[in-house]
Amino acid sequence: MQWIIRFSGFVSAALLMIVLAPSLQSFHPAEAIRSHSHSHHYYYYHHHQITRNIPSYRRASTFRNTVGCKPITGSGDVCDPSLVHVALTLDFEYLRGSIAAVHSILQHSSCPENIFFHFLVSDTNLKTLVSSTFPKLKFKVYYFDPEIVRNLISTSVRHALEQPLNYARNYLADVLEPCVRRVIYLDSDLVVVDDITKLWNTKLGQKTIGAPEYCHANFTKYFTARFWSNSLYSSVFSDRNPCYFNTGVMVIDLAKWRLFGYTKRIEKWMEIQKSDRIYELGSLPPFLLVFAGNVAPIDHGWNQHGLGGDNVHGSCRELHPGPVSLLHWSGSGKPWLRLDSKQPCPLDALWAPYDLYRSSD
Ligand SMILES: *[C@@H]1O[C@H](CO)[C@@H](O)[C@H](O)[C@H]1NC(C)=O
Repeated sequence: MQWIIRFSGFVSAALLMIVLAPSLQSFHPAEAIRSHSHSHHYYYYHHHQITRNIPSYRRASTFRNTVGCKPITGSGDVCDPSLVHVALTLDFEYLRGSIAAVHSILQHSSCPENIFFHFLVSDTNLKTLVSSTFPKLKFKVYYFDPEIVRNLISTSVRHALEQPLNYARNYLADVLEPCVRRVIYLDSDLVVVDDITKLWNTKLGQKTIGAPEYCHANFTKYFTARFWSNSLYSSVFSDRNPCYFNTGVMVIDLAKWRLFGYTKRIEKWMEIQKSDRIYELGSLPPFLLVFAGNVAPIDHGWNQHGLGGDNVHGSCRELHPGPVSLLHWSGSGKPWLRLDSKQPCPLDALWAPYDLYRSSD
């Protein structure tokens, strides 16, 4: 009961936020008319992707800057210094989640036109779908070759963790334009309910990455006994106080990453894992090995994780106490699947407003 009260309190707070969000008031009736001119894109797309069941998405309204945004010089190309850079992956399994994530970011940002999205894909080119769904969105699509990591991936406990694109976050510094010196990396199973500019302005100090840290979590369990018993490996943490962090929400200083060659360091641990099983999970442990204990802390409200529920039982989770800027359905359950199956968890109702998927079209 207490839970329900807390939950409804949150929903009203969320509604209030939405009502107050000035970006929502920028919808122009003209957009509805203009959407017809894009219909041939859909046809073109369907025509060429006939073997694959391309899902269809509603067109989001156009989100416009409010007063006080940094002026965008020139044409707002990727190197413009006024931009906020956000990177996500786009794949068929999580596409609905990625689209909802972008939608949520735009909706809660007071300077949505200053956001530049970097989409990493390994599959079909989804560029047309993105531009049809988000008119005027500043973005670039990068092809991430699965072969880059295929030889480096070892089998882990969860098949889903072994998708090559799951490792794309390791390569942002290499894949993104060199002029992009900072990026926010976000998973596809989350929504942002606060202004992303606040996250963007995180002070990293001397650190290369920033993320919410969880120092009460038992760090030992992320690595095998074989890892801890071999001092050659475990000494990597000897001069650090490592804490678990979730790699689904990270602010990354790409300039420092490139300078210190962190991609190679991550790959080195992945090589070790192949011959000497030092962990059980997928892309997370190499990040912990390289960065844990050297992470700039970010408020926990920026990663209310675990909402996907238990990996084994698929049970529903509650929010962690404290503020909420980002809701993350990490874990085995995804809100779109549960909503479709008519067996949602209570918090899935907070994901639904950002869903642009058109089921019967
Ligand atoms: C942490 O996890 C390890 C391995 O699962 C276990 O042996 C240890 O007792 C745990 N420590 C605490 C403080 O719970």
